[in-house]
Amino acid sequence: MKTQRVLITGGAGFIGCNFVRSCCQDAGATIVLDALTYAGNRATLADLEGPENFAFVEGDICDSVLVSKLLTQYAIDTVIHFAAESHVDRSISSPAVFVHTNVVGTFTLLEAFRHHWEDEGKPEGFRFLHVSTDEVFGSLNFDDPPFSETAPYAPNSPYAASKAGSDHLVRAYFHTYGLPTLITNCSNNYGPYQFPEKLIPLMCLNILLGKPLPVYGDGQNIRDWLHVEDHCSAIATVLQKAAPGATYNIGGNNQVKNIDIVEQLCALMDELGGDLPTSPSRELITFVPDRPGHDRRYAMDIAKIQRELGWSPSYDFATGLRHTVQWYLSHRDWWQPLLSDQYQTYYADLYGDRAAL
Ligand code: NAD
Ligand code: DAU
Repeated sequence: MKTQRVLITGGAGFIGCNFVRSCCQDAGATIVLDALTYAGNRATLADLEGPENFAFVEGDICDSVLVSKLLTQYAIDTVIHFAAESHVDRSISSPAVFVHTNVVGTFTLLEAFRHHWEDEGKPEGFRFLHVSTDEVFGSLNFDDPPFSETAPYAPNSPYAASKAGSDHLVRAYFHTYGLPTLITNCSNNYGPYQFPEKLIPLMCLNILLGKPLPVYGDGQNIRDWLHVEDHCSAIATVLQKAAPGATYNIGGNNQVKNIDIVEQLCALMDELGGDLPTSPSRELITFVPDRPGHDRRYAMDIAKIQRELGWSPSYDFATGLRHTVQWYLSHRDWWQPLLSDQYQTYYADLYGDRAAL
């Protein structure tokens, strides 16, 4: 990232803030554009603010005037696009904002970046890296091979469909205009700074608070878990080494059933969590009615990024999960304010009427 002047969208969210913290220290300039939705937290980046080569801008990726202004004002050559509505359950209850942010927002960024790139004489070094998800490929059966980059798109949730739409727009801008784009499709991330609505932090915090641990359906759904620092290093690698127009799948070679993760979290919390309200915490496990349209299994074939770019995940899951639990235990000051009235309303709406199976 040494000389690059980078616009990071969604840099106050989970993966974006980890990327800013771990990969942008030596960039020529780092400009974070984030609307600070419920999922964005400026405090996460507070210690980075100050130096001249860092700026935080509160604003919306759908605001074309603002985006164009930032690209020119800061002489941006690289956009790394994390900003999105990211939670599947919210996309089921409130899909409109997913289409707006994920599709219209990505289109707005692409248009602004295209004009900026053309105005600057189409420099070879410009890049637009779009951070996407394995969910665009749909659901695997237990004995299917993992998704490769050529797997057909088959999104099943409004979230996945909106991400698929944004991927198609990025692809079209490369093919039609020659815009130097890159797409990464990654599996489930875990690690520090993840918003409490997602499986791993939700289970950790519920154990600390003595609340039921809501496992959807039969708990046999499988995700391919990757530590967020590995995702960030993969993105940095793609940015440095990949040819424009390329897409890469990123994953952890680490398929785990939901119920096994919850059991592992219970064991870690019993060991590390001190005086817990309920012990052993596995007594809190509660099977609840399934998420509508719940994808059964995701798994990524990462042979292409390993072979072509030399990237592989470095964390093993047991160590990464232990570090993550330790991080949540020692960062109550970070997550406690996120359990706001607004979050309690969300939680009651999603889980309140979900009687145990
Ligand atoms: P997140 O929900 O934690 O953070 C999203 C960030 O985007 C927040 O800071 C939010 O304020 C910001 N944002 C939302 N709407 C915006 C708008 N209109 N304008 C500007 N900023 C806006 O998400 P995350 O988990 O960090 O995911 C980041 C990206 O990675 C997303 O594109 C997601 O689809 C993708 N992804 C996530 C995972 C995962 O496991 N979390 C895996 C693969 C891909
Ligand atoms: O696969 C990549 C995707 O991973 C990203 O694109 C998404 O942005 C990210 O949110 C994540 O989506 P999932 O739906 O897989 O993550 P979530 O943490 O919501 O759920 C993980 C699994 O755990 C899933 O099978 C649903 C289940 N689950 C989740 C919650 C919140 C439960 O059983 N109970 C819960 O309370």
